[in-house]
Amino acid sequence: MSRDYWENRYQTKDMPWEKGGPSPGLVDFLETLPPPTDQTVCVPGCGTGHDVRAFARAGFHASGFDLAPSGIRLAVEKTALAGLSARFQLADFLLDPPPRPFDWIFEHTLFCAIQPAERGAYVQSVLRWLKPGGQFLAVHYLIPDTDGPPFGTTREEVLRMFLPHFDLLSEWIPRSYPNRTGLELMLWWRRKTG
Ligand SMILES: C[S@@+](CC[C@H](N)C(=O)[O-])C[C@H]1O[C@@H](n2cnc3c(N)ncnc32)[C@H](O)[C@@H]1O
Repeated sequence: MSRDYWENRYQTKDMPWEKGGPSPGLVDFLETLPPPTDQTVCVPGCGTGHDVRAFARAGFHASGFDLAPSGIRLAVEKTALAGLSARFQLADFLLDPPPRPFDWIFEHTLFCAIQPAERGAYVQSVLRWLKPGGQFLAVHYLIPDTDGPPFGTTREEVLRMFLPHFDLLSEWIPRSYPNRTGLELMLWWRRKTG
């Protein structure tokens, strides 16, 4: 989907993904994590930045990236209002180089927003934007839809795409927004160093 497509979704307020708060699964995960020491995190396709602010609240150096200028503008405004410190930048995660490689990447509703044919490029982008040994935390949307966005995926597809490059640390079914309960899968990966 093009930049114009996503910008138009914001301009026309056609944003059913906008839930007014971070991924419940991410909130629960961050509560279990020891306070990070100088860890950077990238949230690609960050939208209005709820997940970025959750990482910032937890003590990360948090950055959000999005294709849509209105998403970035809203993210900057909401972060200032919340009195939090986080960086936001316009970028195409599939095409652009990272400003610097990150310690963590958090996936939430970008994998299902891009065309399924772009998923190979998505994996290559995670490898480009993440440090070797870095951690990739993902919330995947396990729906059957083929006429997205959102485009569905399966646990099998995700494992097939990421296992060659990552060690799986843990997987679980997270707490979700009400209309996604039981439809999400969280996977916590560490990028292989070799
Ligand atoms: C379904 S929305 C999800 C937003 C946010 N993750 C959330 O859950 O609220 C998908 C977001 O990804 C952005 N996006 C789509 N393709 C992108 C790309 N190639 N690079 C960066 N952002 C992209 C869109 O502009 C949109 O903000």
